[in-house]
Amino acid sequence: MKRISIPGDKSITQRLVILGGLAEGKSCLKGALFGGDCSSTVDALNNLGVRIKPSSDHGELIIVGMGLQGFQSPKRNLDFHNSGTGARLMLGVLSGQKHLKDIFVTGDQSLRQRPMGRVVEPLREVGAKIEYMEDVGRLPLSVSGQSLHPFHYQSPVASAQVKSALLFAGLVAGNAAKISEPIQSRDHTERLFESAGIRIRERNNENKWQISMDSPPSKLDPFEVDIPGDFSSAAFFMGLATLGGVNEGIVLENVGLNPTRTGLLTVMLRMGANIQISKSISGIIKEARGVIEILPSELSGTEITPEEVPAMIDEFPLLIVLASRAVGVTKIRGAQELRFKESDRIGVMVKNMRAIGVEIEEFEDGLEIVGSESPLSGKVRSHGDHRIAMAFGILNALPQNQIAIEGMDAAGVSFPGFWETLSSMQKKSSRS
Ligand code: S3P
Repeated sequence: MKRISIPGDKSITQRLVILGGLAEGKSCLKGALFGGDCSSTVDALNNLGVRIKPSSDHGELIIVGMGLQGFQSPKRNLDFHNSGTGARLMLGVLSGQKHLKDIFVTGDQSLRQRPMGRVVEPLREVGAKIEYMEDVGRLPLSVSGQSLHPFHYQSPVASAQVKSALLFAGLVAGNAAKISEPIQSRDHTERLFESAGIRIRERNNENKWQISMDSPPSKLDPFEVDIPGDFSSAAFFMGLATLGGVNEGIVLENVGLNPTRTGLLTVMLRMGANIQISKSISGIIKEARGVIEILPSELSGTEITPEEVPAMIDEFPLLIVLASRAVGVTKIRGAQELRFKESDRIGVMVKNMRAIGVEIEEFEDGLEIVGSESPLSGKVRSHGDHRIAMAFGILNALPQNQIAIEGMDAAGVSFPGFWETLSSMQKKSSRS
């Protein structure tokens, strides 16, 4: 079986570079992701006076933190490029650093179209001063640090970015914070806060998932942690092996297996995938990790319920690719959040699938797709969305398909070296 080592988890790297910047002293991240999104957050932190650089030892990132209220006024605008996580989490941090004034925050064309109100509105409610510079609800905007007050925010969406922006705001401001969400979203911030000595309580309350941080500490100690590989990146190669795109199966090593991220595993097993997992929890950050072995198998269509969506929110482009090769129909509903990702992932997937001959129907909150064995060919566009580019990379890697992908470079946002790894794995000798 071919073995692949998966690049570091994007969500965990993003949170740890920010936490390292807020700690007092020198932290070290092993296995951090050096992809486009994390680099944008690192650049923004550098611009705020935090020293972050790779150590001479490959794969380590050294961060010299400035303390919870220690960021300096940036010399340039903070440009988060394509990174929604970086921009939204940092809005929480900046809102509570009282001495920072009129910080201009922006992003690339895609990020400037994504909703920021979901973070800005609750931050304003707790006292933040944030002004939109152009369109209401969108970047660019200007933020000035304030004295924030304790809060209980009931989020209408299950969004880890909203929850995390508010937890970071509470941490920096030294305030109690309580957030409820309709369904639990990924819990990396909660786990990382806990491992940094910040007590977090979580429980189900009146059908909502509630997270409470009662008394954040006045200072954070630096840390040394080892980051697992990103499950969302591993998912593409799980898909390739399942669809028979490699001669034998694939073994994926050191993959993050946080249960709030691995919803696709449950769904793939239900569809008939042949996947074996060995899981362990080690290290101070209490993030499960393990080895995933995948053999080719025939898949059947399935139905994704709204409750299943948050734990597999980033895996829909790949799931739709799997569904196009499954026997029968796959139905996805309650997934309207997909319209607010790096692209409108419902609209873009539907258009691209039709362009290569797949039968697919679009709904406001999902889609229905009819699987087949027919060869697929034509041209698709990534719309600058890394996961769309990689999902079609997997479909094109199957021997019978001929798909030209416009905008392949987008993959570097979360998986540097994706195309090289894919060429070294696939049965097909060259990609189109
Ligand atoms: C992320 C949360 C998710 C996910 C994104 C990364 C995070 O977004 O889609 O890729 O690191 O917190 P939402 O919180 O908007 O669902």
